[in-house]
Amino acid sequence: MCGIIGYIGKKPATPFLISGLKRLEYRGYDSAGICVLENGALEIIKEEGPIKMLEAELANKILNSTIGIAHTRWATHGRPNKINAHPHFDCQKKIAVVHNGIIENFQALKVLLESEGHKIISETDTEIIAHLIEKFYVDNLEKAVTETIKCLEGTFGLAVMCATEHKIIVARRGSPLILGIGENETFVASDASAIIEHTQQVIYLKDNEIAILSEDGYSLKNINGELLTGETQEIKWTIDEIEKGGFKHFMLKEIFEQPKTIANTLRGRVNNGSIKLSVNLDPKKVDKIIITACGTSWHSALIGKYLIEKIVGLPVEVDYASEFRYRNPIIGPNNLLIVISQSGETADTLAALKEATNCETLGIVNIVGSTISREVKSGIYLHAGPEIGVASTKAFTSQVTSLILLALYFEEQISGEVDRELINELESIPQKIQSILDNAKEIKAISQNFIGSHNSLYLGRGINFPVALEGALKLKEVSYIHAEGYPAAEMKHGPIALIDENMFVVFVVNHGPIFEKVISNIQEVRARGGRIITITDMDNEVIKKLSDYVIMVPSVSEELSPLVNIIPLQLLAYYVADLNGVNVDKPRNLAKSVTVE
Ligand code: G6P
Repeated sequence: MCGIIGYIGKKPATPFLISGLKRLEYRGYDSAGICVLENGALEIIKEEGPIKMLEAELANKILNSTIGIAHTRWATHGRPNKINAHPHFDCQKKIAVVHNGIIENFQALKVLLESEGHKIISETDTEIIAHLIEKFYVDNLEKAVTETIKCLEGTFGLAVMCATEHKIIVARRGSPLILGIGENETFVASDASAIIEHTQQVIYLKDNEIAILSEDGYSLKNINGELLTGETQEIKWTIDEIEKGGFKHFMLKEIFEQPKTIANTLRGRVNNGSIKLSVNLDPKKVDKIIITACGTSWHSALIGKYLIEKIVGLPVEVDYASEFRYRNPIIGPNNLLIVISQSGETADTLAALKEATNCETLGIVNIVGSTISREVKSGIYLHAGPEIGVASTKAFTSQVTSLILLALYFEEQISGEVDRELINELESIPQKIQSILDNAKEIKAISQNFIGSHNSLYLGRGINFPVALEGALKLKEVSYIHAEGYPAAEMKHGPIALIDENMFVVFVVNHGPIFEKVISNIQEVRARGGRIITITDMDNEVIKKLSDYVIMVPSVSEELSPLVNIIPLQLLAYYVADLNGVNVDKPRNLAKSVTVE
């Protein structure tokens, strides 16, 4: 994610930059840095870790500059350390850049710039932007930035300073940026929370727009250099509302972010119908895969088993990390151990990884530079941005997306062929998820019927059995209603005894060979008076007759169905919990990252 703030005006910039960064810290906290123009030279001060580290460093400095840019980082390219922290300089330290987004063609640009003699010192995609601006700079920063963004593929929100011009140049494509218009001062920020204390008048930059901020105010241009009139809007939100993007809780915000976060997981990894992953291992040498994880990540692992066995044809074992490490697992030299962890810090998952001393290891992790990401031999980052709600939502769908990518990658590496139709369909998933989110009101209305319930059963089969498990976990985590996930066909071997008119039963059923079988399970629940909610892609009269509520989802291939089916279950859990008055982002007794055994 990352957060950007910039100031130009008549007052010292640094206090504005620091207070703005603190407001943006929820967007990332791997490192933070500022750049100010002091006595004709750009001065960058940056520190690894949260903003208070930077603040401590700045406490010993006197900075009077009335112009500055600043950044708080959520690492994507390169570890969270001081060298990779923003702002980044060009070779001559005349240009400084802060960036939010991902530059997809940065490797190619890096090779080009290095061949021309540029010295690139960090692992980031951002630094190449500073060097590109240097390459194009003659005597006009605005022109150099405009030329630079024409060469960039991917997403960016940029703020740029130059030692010889008293201006901030700002540009965006894909990543949010707003201008704050004050009296004799102008701000730029990733979102309004960073500037709302100073002004409520803002302009939301659109893609490929460039803003030139100077002491006299601002001007706005398109990529062809033509002047634009920006539409000034008045912000009426509170700071708390802005940080949550107008949503009541981070969990809801993160559920609604999923079209974007899945697109970010896919970004740069699908190229002309082929999968590109930086995985340093030869899948032809792998004879068995073991996946281990905890909580929601364990549910992704179960989905991974279905995917890899079906798409690649390799056997897969899945284990809770806490069990795996204590059961003397048999790990062969040709096995591959995959560990999945949103935080990359879960103690049991880390300990399970340490069991694998003689085989290849691969991590599927969200937090860049986390312990697990450093200890695995290769890995896939989720690029889902910080997940703040304790109940995991967007990390889950990005984990499943990563596992689909991995299965397709292995398929291509082993057989030389890949299921292109599935790849195309995968790219359409964000849009399909959006269509479910657009119907959230319907799910909110259904959730009212859960009020007063104490028990529920979530049933699914095949690849949707783990979806049922995850739906049940979400409900119990945030609403404190007992929820059990079960394979639908196993219901008659026990849970059926629990069914009466007080029991809610949630079915997840898609078109396909087991559709009719699940219908029979729905009949069995109906016959015992259970109250039924069915999530399905089938416009089917029998389902409508048997179910109290039907939530329709777009029809997709079986392999992709967990990505759409989980969305109504996340929403259901959220709305039930909110109606029950639970602090959804911090449910009792739970921790976001469990770093103890
Ligand atoms: C905790 C969190 C869960 C998470 C699990 C595994 O229990 O509350 O949301 O799924 O840890 O965390 P990890 O960071 O390893 O995915």
